[in-house]
Amino acid sequence: MDYYKIIGGKKLKGEVEISGAKNAALPIIVASLLADGETELHNVPNLKDILTIIKVIECLGAETEFNTEKNILKIKINKIKKAEIPYDLVKTMRASVYVMGPMLARLGFADVSLPGGCAIGERPIDIHLSGFESLGAEIGVERGYVIAKAKKLKGTRFIMRKVSVGATINIMMAAVMAEGETILENCAMEPDVVDLANFLIKMGAQIEGAGSERIVIHGVKKLKPVTHTIMPDRIEAGTYLLAGAITRGEVTITHAVPEHVSALCNALSEIGFIIKQGNDWVRVSAGKKLRGVYVKTLPYPGFPTDLQAPMMALMTTLPGISVVNETIFENRFTHVGELRRMGAHIETEGNMAIVHGGKKLSAAPVMMSDLRAGASLVLAALAAKGISEIRRIYHSDRGYEKLSEKLSMLGADIKREKGGGY
Ligand code: UD1
Repeated sequence: MDYYKIIGGKKLKGEVEISGAKNAALPIIVASLLADGETELHNVPNLKDILTIIKVIECLGAETEFNTEKNILKIKINKIKKAEIPYDLVKTMRASVYVMGPMLARLGFADVSLPGGCAIGERPIDIHLSGFESLGAEIGVERGYVIAKAKKLKGTRFIMRKVSVGATINIMMAAVMAEGETILENCAMEPDVVDLANFLIKMGAQIEGAGSERIVIHGVKKLKPVTHTIMPDRIEAGTYLLAGAITRGEVTITHAVPEHVSALCNALSEIGFIIKQGNDWVRVSAGKKLRGVYVKTLPYPGFPTDLQAPMMALMTTLPGISVVNETIFENRFTHVGELRRMGAHIETEGNMAIVHGGKKLSAAPVMMSDLRAGASLVLAALAAKGISEIRRIYHSDRGYEKLSEKLSMLGADIKREKGGGY
């Protein structure tokens, strides 16, 4: 298995181009199932999760051609077929459950393995399922699979009990071809939801309010295939800004949407970093005096949970005390133990972490436990003195395109090595 070897201590400097957003591309690829014909998607990141979702739609009869050099994915749908989505695919990536929405809309039937637990808490899909029920589907569980059936989906008013990106996306995809009007309340306002809605609107769907708490959908009978460019990845963008910050360098992210990283930039400014930005770029550089910070993760436009672990790596290098309050997922502190192995002083209690900063991080062999925890270890290793070896990098392969190449271009000493048994 591959691992990263990082010699820390280099200040990162330069520009890095942000790839297409994984979390927007996943539902958009799935939404292509809603129309017969050829969909063409641009700026699709070449990531493990994208290859998994491609396999998922292929189960349902899609023909695909992914040009990984040009990041163009062509998807051809002749007729979608009834098929079950196996546990192997859903367990590697929970977003596989997104096919339920389009399957219900087009086939009146969905048969998808239940995801089960995962490294960052329980992550149930009950809100997705109650939304489908509200649209008229019957839901059952057999042999570990959720089976949803509906002769005809009918418009409804559905209030989500909790803000959920996945449920907003899945229910919206089911409702676009339901009969009549659907009103969704307490929706996720994440840019990924908006990018999907824009794609669906291009296809002929009638959707208003995406990006707000209330989405109104008027069902249409048919959608057409279109060409669409995936928006930039705000979590990747945030990770590179944090890489600049943790090494006290000067990093500019390009091909980005500055508004999407506002919560992070506010926190970085509060710490004392200097943030400059233009239409599609943001630059971070170190200020004269830095201090600790309090960060609470919240649904968009709040501080994203996906940047919590990378942010915590930065906190370990700040003077004084910083605090993290993780309100989205339970059990999202799996990076803490590994950061401690690198010399960090972090206490946790429930969903709070108190970081006693100002300690010099030291290199150590560490292991990724999930995608974003993995990113935090890479950042810590970039700042640490000595040579760190980071294992289980298949986690970061899920969500960071050309991670070592991009960091090397910024001046990091990072190598992807072969071998190592764990
Ligand atoms: C998505 C993102 C993930 C990000 C998360 C929060 C994708 C592919 N993944 O995950 O990177 O960390 O949003 O921004 O886009 N919940 C329920 N029942 C449900 C659904 C969710 O209780 O049916 C809970 C979850 O356990 C969690 C909270 O709602 O506590 C938010 O989860 P959700 O927004 O659904 O996250 P995902 O869509 O899985």
